[in-house]
Amino acid sequence: MKILITGGAGFIGSHVADAYVNAGHEVIIVDNLSTGSTKNIPKKAKLYLLDIGAQELDKVFELEKPEIVDHHAAQISVTVSTRDPIQDAKINALGLLNLLETSVRHSIKKFIFISTGGAIYGDTEIMPTPEDHPSQPISPYGIHKYLGEQYLRFYAEQHGLKYTVLRYSNVYGPRQNPLGEAGVVSIFINSLLGGETPTVFSYPEEPDGMLRDYVYVEDIARANLQAADKGVGELINIGTGVTTTTGALYREISSLFKNPPEPKWADARPGDLCRSCLDIGKAKKILAWSPSVDLHEGLSRTVKYFS
Ligand SMILES: NC(=O)c1ccc[n+]([C@@H]2O[C@H](COP(=O)([O-])OP(=O)(O)OC[C@H]3O[C@@H](n4cnc5c(N)ncnc54)[C@H](O)[C@@H]3O)[C@@H](O)[C@H]2O)c1
Repeated sequence: MKILITGGAGFIGSHVADAYVNAGHEVIIVDNLSTGSTKNIPKKAKLYLLDIGAQELDKVFELEKPEIVDHHAAQISVTVSTRDPIQDAKINALGLLNLLETSVRHSIKKFIFISTGGAIYGDTEIMPTPEDHPSQPISPYGIHKYLGEQYLRFYAEQHGLKYTVLRYSNVYGPRQNPLGEAGVVSIFINSLLGGETPTVFSYPEEPDGMLRDYVYVEDIARANLQAADKGVGELINIGTGVTTTTGALYREISSLFKNPPEPKWADARPGDLCRSCLDIGKAKKILAWSPSVDLHEGLSRTVKYFS
């Protein structure tokens, strides 16, 4: 099949591109390289250097006639979204709308939308959190991802667009940007490699740091492969169902280094969730998917990559 991946030069999108290419699909990437890199792109994939909000997107669809659109391009930082909600909306709401309008004009067969488990549910009492838990996002990033999911329902009803929403937990692995404000695993590894002391953010009620569900990026890529022909009209959590505190994560990563420093501790930032962990029963049932790389193995592979 011909698959157009937005954000395919980025961390997760490039692993998804690898997985589709390895499975024999033809891959087209649309990316403006704002955070992505051409180094990440598989040789067999074709890149269009373009913003998802650009009118020229129509020409790409006309020329390439993609059957599936797998939408990963986004402003990804919760912190940036709280500082600049308008910029977040331009990419995560208006950019998505341009892509949806173009997709229905060109009658694509399926749209895979990448949403977020953590930021959509907000701080919940029910952990791991299932998909039918009410959404209560506390950041513009979470609000715009939630809006995106609602737009998909509209395009399905109004235009018959087939879609699947994948709500990721915290993804980590090779190629994650260590210089941004999101991606604690790569930030910790990069600091330790540079001889710096990482900072662990925490809330008073969770003194060992925030609770998170860390999933390895190659497992995420496999979930996208499964979603290419399964799960129409479904919202599906993709994570591990296993909770780890930021303090425990730091200890696990630092055990892979010689003489690591004790971390610094600081208060959580605006928009940071206290806890998040996803129930993955639906992914197992509908996508026949479950994670295969545990945290220890995934972190070892990631440290090896960054070293
Ligand atoms: N990393 C995580 O833990 C996580 C968790 C939940 C959801 N997600 C979602 O997964 C997706 C990929 O995230 P990532 O961590 O790989 O981030 P990333 O920043 O590495 O990748 C985003 C890619 O999109 C491109 N891009 C950004 N704005 C664009 C625009 N306007 N037009 C065209 N291209 C644009 C960037 O250049 C980059 O290549 C995002 O939708 C993100 O919200 C990520």
